[in-house]
Amino acid sequence: MLDDSSPAGPDRRNFVSKAASIVLGGLAVIVAPVAGLLTVFDPLRRKGDTRGLVRVTSLAALPEGGEPRKFPVLDTLVDAWNRTDNVPVGSVYVQRTGPDTVRVLNSVCPHLGCSVGFNAATRGYFCPCHKSRFALDGAIADPNSPSPRAMDALDAMVKDGEVWVKFQNFRKGSPDKIPV
Ligand code: FES
Repeated sequence: MLDDSSPAGPDRRNFVSKAASIVLGGLAVIVAPVAGLLTVFDPLRRKGDTRGLVRVTSLAALPEGGEPRKFPVLDTLVDAWNRTDNVPVGSVYVQRTGPDTVRVLNSVCPHLGCSVGFNAATRGYFCPCHKSRFALDGAIADPNSPSPRAMDALDAMVKDGEVWVKFQNFRKGSPDKIPV
C-alpha cells in the first residue's frame, strides 16, 4: 500500500524542477520577442502621447500671426525619495505659426547663456549681454553676433488645445546643438 504522506522523493523533485524550467523557458521565449517588438514600435505607440513633454500654455493664449510669448517651463523632479512638482527648469518663447502649429525656442542664448529678449519693434530676438541678434525663427540675424549658432528650437506638440514642449538645454558656446 502507498503512503501519500511520505516526503517527496528525488524523482518527484526532479520532475517539478524540470517542469518549472520548461514553463519559465517558454515564458522567456514568448515575452522576449514581444518586448522587442514593443520597443521597436514604441515611437508609433507614442504618437500623440505627451510623456516626456511639459505643458507650457494653451493655444488660446497665442494669437495667430502674433508675436512670440515667453513662458516658464515647470517640470516635476523625481529622485529616489522625493517628487517635487512645478519646479522651474527654464523658459521658452512660443509663437503660433498656424491654426495648430507653434514654434518653440529655448530662451537661453547659445553664446554664454544669458536670457534672450524679444524686441517687438524689430520683430526679432536680442541678447543684452554681448548683442547677439536672432530672427523670428531663431536664426542668427546679424553676422557679427558672437553666438556660434541659432537659438535652440525645441520639439513641441499641440494636443487638445494645449502646447506641450520637450524641454532641453544645450551646450553653450558650441556651434553644434549638443544636449546637456
Ligand atoms: S550671452 Fe548672449 S551674446 Fe553672449
